[in-house]
Amino acid sequence: ERVRVIGAPLDYGADRRGVDMGPSAIRYAGLAGELAASGRTAVDRGDLSVPRAEERDPDAETPVRGSAKFLREVRDVCERLSEAVEDTLAAGEFPLVLGGDHSIAIGSIQGSSRNADVGVIWFDAHGDFNTPETSPSGNVHGMPMAAALGHGSFAGTDWANAPGVDPENVVLVGLRSLDEKERLAIRESPVTAYTMSDIDERGITAVTEEALEVAGSAADGIHVSLDMDWLDPKEAPGVGTPVRGGVTYREAHAALEIVANRKVLRSLEVVEVNPILDSGNETASLAVELAASALGKRIL
Ligand code: ARG
Ligand code: MN
Ligand code: MN
Ligand code: MN
Repeated sequence: ERVRVIGAPLDYGADRRGVDMGPSAIRYAGLAGELAASGRTAVDRGDLSVPRAEERDPDAETPVRGSAKFLREVRDVCERLSEAVEDTLAAGEFPLVLGGDHSIAIGSIQGSSRNADVGVIWFDAHGDFNTPETSPSGNVHGMPMAAALGHGSFAGTDWANAPGVDPENVVLVGLRSLDEKERLAIRESPVTAYTMSDIDERGITAVTEEALEVAGSAADGIHVSLDMDWLDPKEAPGVGTPVRGGVTYREAHAALEIVANRKVLRSLEVVEVNPILDSGNETASLAVELAASALGKRIL
């Protein structure tokens, strides 16, 4: 089906300015051409509007307990992103969401799983399994997976909690940086988690195939959330929270090609590209290449 590109230039969930320029950097890196090279027709719906930092109401209250910086702004954008993703699927098109920081996943997952049974594969150095109660930073981009599963003060919120996602069908791949309480929350949750050690021991192919098995038991397909800090910072330096020891260029392509082969992909997002921290837009270029692999681009 036709790919619909939706930009979500949000940086309120992260500590670092610049990730709001991710969608522009990804388009500039040649997204349209690579989608065409993948044999996909595509339409670009432009960017969702994000309130500028200078226009925010400083007295506005935070909508949950605990510490979650700019949660009102994040919620506002995620509500509109959720609508946009739902409308894309309803139109029979494939949603490709460009971040922005990872907090936008709250909206993508909500929209992808409304009235549907959806699995999630989360390619990331981080678990993003904090809640406002456990987060040491207060940054919402460290919370979206927990938010979608309705943990902590996200429980029962209609904008964050995505009841169409069963934690049994959620898989985290590539973990190498977890906060202490986040680590406990992942261990207690029914989600499946693969660390970098699992990839070292078993190889990216086996791990990705197993992840697809687990997430793919959801009836209506899989949402893939690709945080560019999943890759080693040598390959993807343009991210706000780099962690050494990530997957290589080849491992990343292999994983996303395996995802494409399975033909269960329902929605895709690529997040955390920060062109200010990048060198020569190479992280955005890699984001484009990996999206193309996930959408079926092949050499022969
Ligand atoms: N665990 C840290 C935190 O909660 C870092 C999260 C990084 N998340 C990301 N999407 N880059 O603040
Ligand atoms: Mn709608
Ligand atoms: Mn990350
Ligand atoms: Mn992340």
